[in-house]
Amino acid sequence: MDSIHIHGGIALQGQVRIQGSKNAALPILAAALLTAERSYIRNCPRIADVHAMVSLLRRLGCHVSWREDGLQVDSAQVSLGSMQGEAVKGMRSSLCLLGALLGRCGEAVLEHPGGCVIGERPIDLHLWALEQMGVVFSEEKGMIRGVAEGLHGARIALPLPSVGATENIILAGVLAEGDTCVTGAAREPEITALCRYLQNCGASIEGIGTDRLRIRGGCRLRGAEYHVPADRIVAGTYLMACIGTGGCVLLKGAPAGEMEAVLKAASQMGASCWVSEEGICIQASGCPKPVERLVTLPYPGFPTDLQSVALAVLAASGGRSIVEERIFENRFRVAGELNRMGACIEQVDAHMVVVHGAGRLCGAEVEAKELRGGAALVIAGLMAQGETKVTGCPYIYRGYENICKDFRELGARIASV
Ligand code: UD1
Repeated sequence: MDSIHIHGGIALQGQVRIQGSKNAALPILAAALLTAERSYIRNCPRIADVHAMVSLLRRLGCHVSWREDGLQVDSAQVSLGSMQGEAVKGMRSSLCLLGALLGRCGEAVLEHPGGCVIGERPIDLHLWALEQMGVVFSEEKGMIRGVAEGLHGARIALPLPSVGATENIILAGVLAEGDTCVTGAAREPEITALCRYLQNCGASIEGIGTDRLRIRGGCRLRGAEYHVPADRIVAGTYLMACIGTGGCVLLKGAPAGEMEAVLKAASQMGASCWVSEEGICIQASGCPKPVERLVTLPYPGFPTDLQSVALAVLAASGGRSIVEERIFENRFRVAGELNRMGACIEQVDAHMVVVHGAGRLCGAEVEAKELRGGAALVIAGLMAQGETKVTGCPYIYRGYENICKDFRELGARIASV
């Protein structure tokens, strides 16, 4: 299953259900460590990153089992397990275990986490914020050890709205002594989902959805049920695929309320989008339109995780676009592969490219080097004339439950091999 073969040039038609959100499910699974009771996390996507998180939770002593539509996590017994190896290095979200373990056990030891190769991805803010809550860190042979004798609340002003750092503060804060106030917090919907799950467990968090959070510490948490919301990034990926192929698609269950910036970009690209009770409908035809300037920003701005797929679509547009990446540097790695498919993407600097729309792309053999860039290559393959082979697909399976089946349901000729 290392490669995906696509016979491109078919306009997508029909409807597809949007899977549960990866970036919401992962911190929620880490949060299930904070209670000594059983939680049931419904609508968890069956993707490689969730499987990696499950294996880490098991190493920590949790009983985790898949049920029909989700994961049951029983964290009655938690011990400091070995937090190293591929599951940690390959997945940035393993970092959430830091805040959760410090809250539950007062100690955490884990290998320096990885994730997709998109920029440096430092963890200084995570460590700095947790230090303010009484954690003392040491680093030895690539392992980070945090010890908190008396984890306590703090006033934390984040200098930039890091999603992961905000999540770690919340995770540590709910079991800390006293209240934690965060300003400059990230406002991504996945943080709201984490807070809602914790509220179901009995936590008290104010300011949810804003950049000022107040987390009441010391609550005794119980197990809870939670339904993971639909994945706005998967929905955005399929939406871009529809625009790129000039199709007509219903994205069932797509979280339209979280996708305003994406829907705005879609209409600039020439698509008509409307929201129904069932989800988002997109109608596109012909060549996508270029956009003057597409800029990625923290939520509610255009998400960096959809920058690569938008780039693929703009590469086949009929004119010049500028794409500016303001969250990560080194997130244009896919440009070289797209250029091999006939695109003309010129990198100005680490944060900006100029796309000279080529009108059409042609099939080629290309390599996925990270998750969202990999999805962008699949979309480029769907748009291109002829055959495309995308290798390096394990990256794509980290975030997409069944990208080939979903696109086949929409009429594409695509298979994983
Ligand atoms: C999360 C998402 C990822 C998304 C990103 C931005 C998960 C599992 N991943 O990643 O899909 O692309 O948000 O929406 O939810 N930074 C620092 N120091 C730190 C932490 C971050 O300088 O300690 C910088 C990063 O280098 C980056 C920016 O802050 O430039 C944003 O990163 P952050 O919001 O933390 O992203 P992640 O939580 O890693």
